[in-house]
Amino acid sequence: MSSTETNPVARTVASTQSEMTEVILPNDANTLGNLLGGRLMHFIDLTGAIAAYRHTRTHVVTAAMDHIDFIQPVHVGDLLILKSSVNRAFNTSLEVGVKVWVEHPLTGVLLHVASAYLVFVAVDKQGNRLKVPALVPETPDEIRRFNDALLRREHREAEAARRKQERHQHASQKAAPAAP
Ligand SMILES: CC(C)(COP(=O)(O)OP(=O)(O)OC[C@H]1O[C@@H](n2cnc3c(N)ncnc32)[C@H](O)[C@@H]1OP(=O)(O)O)[C@@H](O)C(=O)NCCC(=O)NCCS
Repeated sequence: MSSTETNPVARTVASTQSEMTEVILPNDANTLGNLLGGRLMHFIDLTGAIAAYRHTRTHVVTAAMDHIDFIQPVHVGDLLILKSSVNRAFNTSLEVGVKVWVEHPLTGVLLHVASAYLVFVAVDKQGNRLKVPALVPETPDEIRRFNDALLRREHREAEAARRKQERHQHASQKAAPAAP
């Protein structure tokens, strides 16, 4: 895919902030009445994509979702609250952070459920990659997330290179003639 030049303007983190609230229904849950992990990942992907849309104002595709720990169960009838914002914009990709809480509707008690980092790539209708606007972090937290996002990108790249080398080694072992 080729990358097309556009004329993006820099945006603030605040302009990308997004929030989604869902009531958990039986269709979202397993046989114990707990929110399914895959359904939670779907909500995380959607909330992340909204922040990415607000930053890029183009189509985006999900390139990666980092490791997620499910810290707290969520039950049918609970409210799921998801908040997202862009942590850093790169060339055609951007990292979005999503944090999820469960709110008990009767007590108002709020507990942290999960956090995730996602990478989205901006594309046009033909699937050509597009340059994304720069992100301007303003607050100390935004600056910390901005710096950490670069470290995570380097970690993802190193991990991808390691997996590629592993696949290459497996392929050459298979191709090698068996010992007599
Ligand atoms: C994501 C995708 C567009 C990347 O395209 P590609 O031709 O492989 O592009 P490149 O390898 O040149 O990478 C382009 C950008 O994506 C980033 N990227 C690609 N794969 C990535 C991955 N697995 N994790 C994190 N970032 C990734 C690169 O770092 C690069 O970022 P930069 O331009 O900001 O430097 C392509 O793999 C794709 O279309 N995947 C399917 C997406 C999809 O269907 N998602 C689910 C539904 S939305």
